[in-house]
Amino acid sequence: MKIFIDTANLREIEEACSWGIVDGLTTNPSLIRKAVQEKQSEQFDIEQHIEQICRIVPGPVSLEVISLTADAMVEEGTKLFARFNKLKGNVAIKIPVNTCDGGRNQDDFEGLIAIRRLAAQQIPVNATLIMTPEQALLAAKAGARYVSPFMGRIDDFRAAQDVQASSQPQLPTGSEIVTQIARVFANYGVDTEIIAASIRNVHHVRAAALAGAQIATIPFAVLNAMSSHPKTEEGIRRFSADVVPEYSGLLGLL
Ligand code: E4P
Repeated sequence: MKIFIDTANLREIEEACSWGIVDGLTTNPSLIRKAVQEKQSEQFDIEQHIEQICRIVPGPVSLEVISLTADAMVEEGTKLFARFNKLKGNVAIKIPVNTCDGGRNQDDFEGLIAIRRLAAQQIPVNATLIMTPEQALLAAKAGARYVSPFMGRIDDFRAAQDVQASSQPQLPTGSEIVTQIARVFANYGVDTEIIAASIRNVHHVRAAALAGAQIATIPFAVLNAMSSHPKTEEGIRRFSADVVPEYSGLLGLL
């Protein structure tokens, strides 16, 4: 499984890339906002910031649009792609599968139209805010290169429903949804890749890998947690305590 880092924080990106485990990166407006807020005291040059991200990351970098109509999303996606893809040819454009916000914006199909139009221009699209296999299937049919099911947020939705009505059938977990999307795509030979997203813990990472997601996009804190285990720490302490001078000498450490 490929590992993307889910952040716009340059320090995190540089550090995780130095470990040799990063294959790509995803951002969204909230992650960009966080990066801007973290640099509060300094001047924040957004273009320079994104340029640096594209240069450091050794694989696809997803940049998200912010409008809610197909025309505007296509314009923004085309603009982002033209501005940043020329650096390393690694930009993908993130489009919400559905931009209906339950309020003023009521059109369910603007996301799919934007995906289709960007894909027709050979711009790789990452369909975001995927919560069901049906949304994933529609995004793939519209031409998305990637679909991003949001494991953590699906779990949040399920937990909220559990509180409301215990008599209703239980909704699937984020892990189950990723498994279902992987099965649907395998059933029909769909070559759109699954980016398991909204990952909150190492269990999500493991479930994504077991489900066969091609990619997981992982926050820095979870990447850190992936390498830790109390017994690994204990093992290090024991090995260190057991070193004999003969062995240290061999290694030139005396
Ligand atoms: C994915 O591409 C998104 O950027 C991200 O995973 C969302 O995660 P969150 O639900 O923790 O905000």
